[in-house]
Order: sequence, then C-alpha cells, then structure tokens
Amino acid sequence: MTALRRILVTGGAGFIGSALVRHLVLEFGAEVLVVDRLTYAGDRRSLSACEGRPGFAFLEADVADLDAMRRAMEEFRPQAVAHLAAESHVDRSIAGAAPFIHTNIVGTFAMLEAARAYRDGLDAGDRDAFRFLHVSTDEVFGSLPEEGAFDEATRYDPRSPYSASKAASDHLARAWFHTYGLPVLVTNCSNNYGPFHFPEKLIPLVLLNALEGKPLPVYGDGGNVRDWLFVEDHVRALVTVLARGVPGATYCIGGRSERRNLQVVEQICDVLDRLRPAARPRRKLITFVPDRPGHDRRYAIDPSRIERELGWHARETFETGLERTVRWYLDNEWWWRPLREQRYAGERLGLPATGTSAARAVA
Ligand code: NAD
Ligand code: DAU
Repeated sequence: MTALRRILVTGGAGFIGSALVRHLVLEFGAEVLVVDRLTYAGDRRSLSACEGRPGFAFLEADVADLDAMRRAMEEFRPQAVAHLAAESHVDRSIAGAAPFIHTNIVGTFAMLEAARAYRDGLDAGDRDAFRFLHVSTDEVFGSLPEEGAFDEATRYDPRSPYSASKAASDHLARAWFHTYGLPVLVTNCSNNYGPFHFPEKLIPLVLLNALEGKPLPVYGDGGNVRDWLFVEDHVRALVTVLARGVPGATYCIGGRSERRNLQVVEQICDVLDRLRPAARPRRKLITFVPDRPGHDRRYAIDPSRIERELGWHARETFETGLERTVRWYLDNEWWWRPLREQRYAGERLGLPATGTSAARAVA
C-alpha cells in the first residue's frame, strides 16, 4: 500500500471488516482504529490477532452517532476511512427492516458528514490525500436473467429491504463526492465467504449444520446463482482501491465464480465427507425449504474494470477457497461454538413479520 498508514475501519469486528483489519495491521503494520457497535454480528475475538499490536485501537460506538464519529476522527486523525459497518443479512431485513435503515442509511450519512467536517480542517496536502471508501454490494443491482453480468454502468434495482438500504447509502456516498468534493470511492462486491463468517449465511450455516448432522436448508429449488469471492481476495481489492482508486469512481469486485446454491451445498458436503468422514454421506441431509420472499435469482459480477485499471485479480478459485474455509472451521471451533450456542443456533430467519409486529419494530 502506498502512503495510507492511518485508517479508520467501521464494522471492523464483522466478517469482512475484521479480515481487512487483520490484513492492514498484520501485513502492513498500519495504524487502525476500529469503530464497531458490536451487534450480534460483531465479535472482538475476530480481532484477537491484532490486540496489543502497536497502532491498533478499538472504539465501541454506533456509526449513526454523529458526535461520536466527529470525535473519533478528530482524535484518531485518519488518512482514510473504510466504511463497512452495516446490517448485512437479507433474511433479517425481511423480518424487520428498522436496524437496516438506522445503520445502513443514517449511519452512512453520519460517517459522510463526520468525514467531511474532519477533512475540511486538514491542510491542503492531507485534504487531497484523504479517502472515504464506501463498501457496498452487488445486490443493489437486482436480479439477473440466465446471461449477463453486473458492471459499473448497471442501473440500480434493489429488491430487499437490505439491498434498498445499501442502494440508498451508495447514493448518499456519491452525492457527498459530487456536492462536497469528499474523495469517495464506492465498491460493489459479490458474495464473500471464508474464515470468521457469522453462521447465519449460507456457507457457514450449511457447514456447521452438516458437521452436527442437522438438516441443510436449501431455499426454493436451489437453482439461485451467487458469484462467490474468497474474503481475503475482497480485502486485497479494497486495499488496492484505497491506494490507487480514482475518487468518485465505482469498482465492481467479484471472483468469476458463479455457482447454483445446490452445487455449493453439495460441494460443502463432499469436502467435509473427505476431511471428516461420517457414517452417511452429508448430501442426505439436504432439505428443500420454502423460498426466501423476493429471492433474487442470479447475481454475477464483471470485474473487468478493477482488473484492467488497478491490476487486481482474485487469487482463489471457489474450490481452493472452499477447502481453506472448511479446514478453518474444523480447526477453529473456539470461534464458532459460542456463537452457535449463545447468539444464533441456525433457526430459519426471514419470514415476514405480521403487520402489527412489523409496526411495533419500527416504533
Ligand atoms: P457483518 O454483518 O459480518 O459485520 C457488520 C459489522 O458492523 C459487525 O461487526 C457489526 O457489529 C457492525 N455494526 C452493525 N451496525 C453497526 C452500527 N450501527 N455502528 C457500528 N457498527 C455496526 O457484515 P460483513 O459481511 O462483514 O459486511 C461488511 C460490509 O460489506 C457491509 O457493508 C456489507 O453490506 C458489505 N458486503 C458484504 C458482502 C458479503 O458477502 N458478506 C458482500 C458485499 C458487500
Ligand atoms: O451479494 C452480496 C451479498 O451476499 C451481501 O451484500 C450480503 O451482505 C450477504 O449476506 C450475501 O447475501 P445473500 O443473501 O446472497 O447471502 P446468504 O448467505 O444469506 O444466501 C446465499 C444464497 O443462499 C441465497 O440465494 C439464499 C440461499 N440460502 C441462504 C440461507 C441462509 C439458502 O438456500 N439457505 C439458507 O439457509
């Protein structure tokens, strides 16, 4: 990485944020302030390798708390902000959207405002070098037919409360670039997987259920397609965009690894059967369950721009990344066991709340 050595990372106790922080602290020796509210999805244990390292600091705070974000920036004096804090799970957004509006929209607004005020007080050189990286998702583009892929010119068409809240945050980030000159970079990435992934998402949920001999829930017909990217490849892309991306630009990030959900689940079963044989093949645990409401059929990213302009390429194939992921979960029960026992045991999420309980959740 070039000159950026002091970086404020929001959502740094989450899945992708913690991978980014480990990369910045352990590989670059960067100074990092993590800002994280420690919701159900955040866990300081994901940062245990960084604790005690010089320059590593943690602030438990809500990104929507504008005063706290202003103070954090004034005191830490970052050269860049990487904004990853979000409510990230589609199924939870269907059951209750209020935290998604709060964190993803109001929280992004507060981060942009705090960054703008802080940057305005910098001297000319530091002001020019400052960067605000807004980390977003390919879900803002909606659903693809059998052919084609999302790229930086794709029109927005979000369909879930989660993706609508992320779309709103992307528009805010771009507005702060055009209106106030804040040097914003936006990335839209496809599905990540890898170590420290909270076990509500398809890959870790299926992996742990399969290990424990429990049913493996496949929504609908299992034919929905996702484009998978190993989390460490995503993190290298984010660091590349921070260092060399053009302010105001968007970069689509993906691993050219489209798979149907049923294929993914079968592949997890096969890797586990090889590494940790069981009495019965794990594929026998596959159970088709009612579909997710509004389930997007297919996502795929065309990452040509970041490959061509910034020289980034995914290193892991889905096969090598999945093998690394399965081995990590087998070796790191200390991390996932307490989450399964105390925070989320794998029950079905994302069935819409009734009118009355939805209204209560907002109030
Ligand atoms: P995650 O749910 O694992 O982590 C989110 C983190 O944000 C947690 O540590 C949580 O405690 C924190 N957080 C939530 N609300 C907060 C608040 N109000 N204030 C401060 N911290 C708060 O999410 P993730 O999968 O690591 O995703 C990180 C970012 O990347 C998100 O913006 C997400 O939209 C985006 N993204 C994720 C994926 C994916 O496949 N996981 C793909 C593309 C983009
Ligand atoms: O595309 C990027 C997005 O990928 C990110 O923006 C989100 O933060 C991230 O959560 C992820 O969203 P998905 O909805 O694609 O991920 P999830 O792991 O929830 O589901 C992946 C696919 O698997 C999806 O088609 C739904 C399906 N699924 C999911 C679960 C949890 C199942 O079939 N069974 C399940 O139990």
